[in-house]
Amino acid sequence: MLLSFHALLRRAIRLRIKSYTWVPNLNRVRAIYPGSFDPLTNGHLDLIERGSQIFDELIVAVLSNAEKDPLFTLGERLNMLEEMVKRYPNVKVDSFGGLLVDFAIAKDAKAVLRGIRAISDYEYELQMAWMNRKLQPQIETIFMMPAEAYSYLSSRLVTEIFRLGGSVRELVPALVEQKLREKFTALPLQSK
Ligand code: PNS
Repeated sequence: MLLSFHALLRRAIRLRIKSYTWVPNLNRVRAIYPGSFDPLTNGHLDLIERGSQIFDELIVAVLSNAEKDPLFTLGERLNMLEEMVKRYPNVKVDSFGGLLVDFAIAKDAKAVLRGIRAISDYEYELQMAWMNRKLQPQIETIFMMPAEAYSYLSSRLVTEIFRLGGSVRELVPALVEQKLREKFTALPLQSK
């Protein structure tokens, strides 16, 4: 049977469409790594790297509520994070306000990643995880430990050390150290 040119073309297109049909992978796990990141530390980065190896996709979500009177604006924190996670193709940066679990649902995420440095973190983290589970039982909280070297590291301590003239070289990425320098040079004297 001889096929017309148009029939052949239609068949070719049909075959091509078939071979490119996208089959969604329903087992892909997207997780949210939420926090204030004010500023981002090497401990956060360590957890981002670990999370990127476990989850198919990781969204680093910066809390946008102004309540906490942050040192860095939301935009500054997002910029620093975006620069630092460029090297991980499955990590994205976003911001959220309101309830974390609502953000997780909106992003179709299955899990929330939180870091636990020491037992002292555990009680607060457990309380949040229970509460988040009460609010949205389908969102699972996963705890991970950063490298031991970062077990004493926090954004609050980094800021305090920098403000008082100490070195934060091994505690934050060079970019964050630079931004801290710019921030404290720009701040009025009494806040330094
Ligand atoms: O880095 P942080 O400051 O420890 O992060 C805390 C954060 C942002 C994860 C937490 O405050 C949070 O989830 N805030 C969003 C509001 C919310 O969902 N509150 C109920 C938590 S049980």
